[in-house]
Amino acid sequence: MVMVFGLVLAGGIGSRMGNNGKPKQFLMACGKPVIIHTLEKFCINGAFIKIIVLCPSEWVSYTQGLIEEYLSSYKKNIAVASGGNSRNNTIMEGIRYIEDNYILDGSTIIVTHDAARPFINNRIISENIETAIRYGAATTAVPATDTILYCPGGQTVESITDRQALYMCQTPQTFFAKELRELYNRLSDNEKEQLTDASGIYIKNKLPVGIVQGEMYNFKITYPNDLVVAEEYIKRGIV
Ligand code: CTP
Repeated sequence: MVMVFGLVLAGGIGSRMGNNGKPKQFLMACGKPVIIHTLEKFCINGAFIKIIVLCPSEWVSYTQGLIEEYLSSYKKNIAVASGGNSRNNTIMEGIRYIEDNYILDGSTIIVTHDAARPFINNRIISENIETAIRYGAATTAVPATDTILYCPGGQTVESITDRQALYMCQTPQTFFAKELRELYNRLSDNEKEQLTDASGIYIKNKLPVGIVQGEMYNFKITYPNDLVVAEEYIKRGIV
């Protein structure tokens, strides 16, 4: 029996989004904050013992207020805690929250997802859990659409990898929480800084990471234009 927790990662400040007075996960998209669109998808899945939202410490009570306002019927399913100073540290804070409040053992699974990716769906969540059970870890990805150029110096192209083999990474990424923490704690400070993607920690250790087919619409709101696209998707009912 596995115990599954959702970790909704909202600990960033959204610097590439520009200064809007609030991190991008709290900006409105068609009358609701982005993070509420994301949380709704987690709430209807039903697989989670608890959905843990991790946000900057100064935004914890604000986030609790949003849940009260927009998701009051699900508020028992959601907890809010402070994130960390990097995305991986935010995940570690989530694992710590589980350890402090529930049980952290070899059967504890975390489905980690960017709060800024509001178009996650039920299939992707369920397949993440199944794939992590099967392989030990899972990441969501979609086949690359454009040719990807490898240009380490930024001036000229060094190589082009066969596009068939290239995927673009999305979230959720799903792990056995205890194992992820052990692998993370073994990294040097330098590696911790470089391996910004948690699945990279498994790959570095030559451990398998299963792929869940994402969706092109499961994009991350990063730049101001992305919010315009997100609103259009919502208005037209594309997702
Ligand atoms: N994130 C997090 N904790 C951090 C940094 C990021 O939980 N310390 C979360 C963000 O809130 C976001 C997701 O990770 O939902 C993806 O990160 P990114 O798009 O890089 O978000 P920001 O760090 O907020 O954006 P930017 O890099 O533009 O500052």
